[in-house]
Amino acid sequence: MSHNINTVAVIGSGQMGGGIAQVAATASFPTTIYDQSPEALKKCEALHDKLLARAVEKGRMSQEDADATKSRITYASDLSALESADIVIEAIVENAQIKKDLFAKLAPKMTGNQIFASNTSSISITDLATSVGSAADRFIGMHFFNPVPVMKLVEVIKGLATSEDTTNRVLALAEAMGKTAVPANDRAGFVSNRILMPMINEAFYTWMEGVAEPEHIDEIMKLGMAHPMGPLRLADFIGLDTCANIMEVMADGLSDPRYLPCPLLKQLVTAGRLGDKSGQGVYDHSK
Ligand code: CAA
Ligand code: NAD
Repeated sequence: MSHNINTVAVIGSGQMGGGIAQVAATASFPTTIYDQSPEALKKCEALHDKLLARAVEKGRMSQEDADATKSRITYASDLSALESADIVIEAIVENAQIKKDLFAKLAPKMTGNQIFASNTSSISITDLATSVGSAADRFIGMHFFNPVPVMKLVEVIKGLATSEDTTNRVLALAEAMGKTAVPANDRAGFVSNRILMPMINEAFYTWMEGVAEPEHIDEIMKLGMAHPMGPLRLADFIGLDTCANIMEVMADGLSDPRYLPCPLLKQLVTAGRLGDKSGQGVYDHSK
């Protein structure tokens, strides 16, 4: 099956959107990335420069390929720059209403065979697809993993109305981006976060109850389970706001309070301690 996609658009230039745009451009797709925050867009471009320079330094890419990759990325400060893309991949905050408002704005402008994809970690694709009305057959979940340039997986989630054509095109696109695509059905948290997030949440309870200090919880899980990062370090890496939002979505979507976020996790988010991206979370990342 051909993906039939020539151009890619990404919305949200945070850690996920920036990575998705970089991987798309590396795979030769002219890529436009938009963020409502000009500072976020600037930060994203600076990170692309840094990561491409590192790839050249490490011998993974020639200088010529790095320059060509960079030249394929357009940093757009206007949403209308995305309307002609063959697929738009949304990677904004993990909030159903904010995502739906965005897709509802795009839908009247994207009336061809264009695909609406969300990188949501947990929110129902069937629900998000209601925001594009009769284009729900062209709506799908395309869930990348952090850091996007490194992690091989894309979890592909079909909503109730997603067409087979849309699914096949996105499976083919993920492969063309150098990823391994694995399908999952549309239940809150899908497969990945249904299993990962309760472990992370439990690590916060373990800390809150004084069973061990964060460093020791992480050390035990790293050395004992051969995880590359302990669960609290991973939570900082993902973003504590994103972790808490995913737990809320699962508690609501699976109608089960056992998925509610740990009070300590919520407290850190309230205090603005969001992890690596804010400089402080469970750990201090300011240095
Ligand atoms: N962007 C791009 N590349 C990155 C990166 C980033 N943010 N962070 C690290 N890398 C690259 C580095 O450049 C490095 O490559 P080079 O040395 O060749 O440059 C390579 O990854 C390894 O990095 P490091 O040597 O610095 O550190 P490491 O060996 O500890 O690896 C890691 C870092 C890949 C992040 C590793 O710790 C890891 O795999 N951690 C677990 C990540 C994970 O579980 N991700 C899934 C999160 S859940 C999710 O994404 C779903 C969701 O919905 C929440
Ligand atoms: P982030 O906080 O790093 O970035 C989000 C970006 O979206 C910010 O730059 C913000 O300015 C922008 N934004 C917010 N609302 C917007 C709007 N209405 N229009 C345009 N831009 C807007 O978040 P992230 O970690 O990149 O997560 C983005 C999405 O990816 C979330 O849905 C999250 O659940 C999902 N996700 C995250 C991870 C992870 O490990 N962090 C992994 C997989 C999926």
